[in-house]
Amino acid sequence: MSAEPIARLRALRAVTLRSTRCADSGEFYREVWGLRQVETDRDAVWLRGSGDEHHVLQLQQAEQNALGKIAFAVATPREIDAAAARLAAHGVGLVTEPGKLDQVGGGYGLRFADPEGRLVELSAEVEAVVPGDPYGHAAVPRKLAHVVLNTVDIDAACEFYTRVLGMRISDWSEHQMAFLRCNADHHVIAFNQAEFASVNHIAYEMNSIDHFMRGIGRLKHNGITPLWGPGRHGPGSNTFGYFADPAGLVCEYTSEVAQVEEDAWLCRVWRRTPELSDLWGTAGPPSKDVRAHMRGVPDPGYSAWWRS
Ligand SMILES: [Fe+2]
Repeated sequence: MSAEPIARLRALRAVTLRSTRCADSGEFYREVWGLRQVETDRDAVWLRGSGDEHHVLQLQQAEQNALGKIAFAVATPREIDAAAARLAAHGVGLVTEPGKLDQVGGGYGLRFADPEGRLVELSAEVEAVVPGDPYGHAAVPRKLAHVVLNTVDIDAACEFYTRVLGMRISDWSEHQMAFLRCNADHHVIAFNQAEFASVNHIAYEMNSIDHFMRGIGRLKHNGITPLWGPGRHGPGSNTFGYFADPAGLVCEYTSEVAQVEEDAWLCRVWRRTPELSDLWGTAGPPSKDVRAHMRGVPDPGYSAWWRS
């Protein structure tokens, strides 16, 4: 019998991006994108949305753009300890043993790597913060909506994230993209079949479609136009506006992500047609430029830079 998933993931908590232009990107996410800086270090910055996470984005200065880590929320330290034992049953080694996390926001957690060397963190009891008013006027991201990752083997990636992390596949876009959920949000992770593993893009959820459009307006007033969008995707039904940060990493505003009722949802395979990737017909097909940004640069994985 195959081993149980290691934990019940509650949410996508935060992402760390290794960035060639940490300071400039920090300024972009703080002054233009709408996140709030909560901590800085010599070569790192931590940024918060208006939701209840201590931070949703950490930028780390690096020689090349790459994924630093993806952090998921788990309910209790006890579940973290149980996850450590279950990882062993899945034959997955720990990068960080369960314990107090010596990092900004604290918490209790563990870390391991996925088959392509992406660092995954599970954490509980991270420093709590008071969320902002969801009906407030400010067009600022509430939380991370999803992380899209390029993979050389979409089936192996889906197999690992469903078997080990207990995620469910909400939809496919042919055999090119797979959308995975860990809670009612249609997807928190998506994999895109590609020539090499890399970061495709990071999406931030706005409170409403009005906040979404006003966010795009603020970028426009700062001289920044979308690489792609605004529009609405078929799979996930979410709105999209894609931009590039100063390091060239793609960030997205989104809203109105489809909510999945666990027992009633039927996973479907969407055809990749312009009409289905852009339901409103406002965005048109993705340009060569946005595709190049989403392709990114080959990510060698955490072992290229990790020092425990
Ligand atoms: Fe997206």
